[in-house]
Amino acid sequence: MKVLITGAAGFIGSTLALKLFERGDEVVGIDNLNDYYDVNLKKARLERVRQAGGKAFTFHQLNIADKDSILALEESCKDVTHIMNLAAQAGVRYSLINPFAYVETNVMGYVTIAELARRLPKLEQFVYASSSSVYGGNTKTPFSVEDPVEKPVSLYAATKRENELIAHTYAHLYKMPCTGLRFFTVYGPWGRPDMAAYLFTKNIIAGEPIPVFNHGNMRRDFTYIDDIVAGVIGVFDNPMTLEEGKVPTRLYNIGNSHTETLMDYIGEIEKALGKKAIYDFLPMQAGDVPATSADIEATKRDFGFAPTTTIREGIPKFIEWYKTYHGV
Ligand SMILES: NC(=O)c1ccc[n+]([C@@H]2O[C@H](COP(=O)([O-])OP(=O)(O)OC[C@H]3O[C@@H](n4cnc5c(N)ncnc54)[C@H](O)[C@@H]3O)[C@@H](O)[C@H]2O)c1
Repeated sequence: MKVLITGAAGFIGSTLALKLFERGDEVVGIDNLNDYYDVNLKKARLERVRQAGGKAFTFHQLNIADKDSILALEESCKDVTHIMNLAAQAGVRYSLINPFAYVETNVMGYVTIAELARRLPKLEQFVYASSSSVYGGNTKTPFSVEDPVEKPVSLYAATKRENELIAHTYAHLYKMPCTGLRFFTVYGPWGRPDMAAYLFTKNIIAGEPIPVFNHGNMRRDFTYIDDIVAGVIGVFDNPMTLEEGKVPTRLYNIGNSHTETLMDYIGEIEKALGKKAIYDFLPMQAGDVPATSADIEATKRDFGFAPTTTIREGIPKFIEWYKTYHGV
């Protein structure tokens, strides 16, 4: 297969590309290498992907919201069979600071990629990243894709929900098979500097306090990167059956399905580093949710999704990468 990955220099996109090369698949990558977080980390991931991919990798440094440049890729992407749209302005907290970045990439950029997608003659599947944040303050656990999601509590979540609605429209209008994946807190080697594992590790090593929101009273379905990537590939390998009169769109949770407390997560980081953290207990942040928990029964059934990595195995792997990458 030939897969167009947007956000190819990102955490999930770069790891997915590496896995696809192992199978002999080709990848076209798009990323604008923006400076939301350390650009050098994005460049380093991209270099790994280039090295591993060789001739099987093509890269375009472009903004997905730049419609003229993206639609101009139609000819060179005519053999693309799958799209994984991962490029997004991520992060719940930053959406309170820079809302327009979310509209540009997650709305305009998303529609632009969908417009490119519908022009590609060999496209079998358009897959895109949604998020557990669409569940807002849902208190019923585990979160099921059948649960109501019309009350997002951050602009980030609202744009991700909007992606799901737009996918339905494209599936309906153009019979374009669309699959949305609601990812649950992804962590692991080459992870994002704005996320908990990285932030906590950095501060603990520096002997600085770590911000512990909602006074530590948080639970998350932490999902290891390799499990996420296996889930995405499972989706590629299991196309939906197209039925007359049925809109070809589907939605799944991709999470570990074992919710852990934030304090246990921090405990694993402390253990792997052999150093205690200094806790700075803080109130709940606006836009954040106290707990996430994924119901993955349908994901297991339809894709054989079987996350296996607990935080007790995954956190030491992250710390090992962090130390090597930063020369700690
Ligand atoms: N990591 C998680 O825990 C998590 C959880 C839920 C959903 N998601 C979603 O999964 C996707 C990938 O997340 P990630 O953790 O790999 O994030 P990431 O920020 O590491 O990767 C996204 C990549 O997209 C690129 N990008 C952003 N805006 C762009 C634009 N306008 N044009 C081109 N490239 C652009 C960035 O430079 C970055 O390299 C995102 O859509 C995110 O919302 C992630």
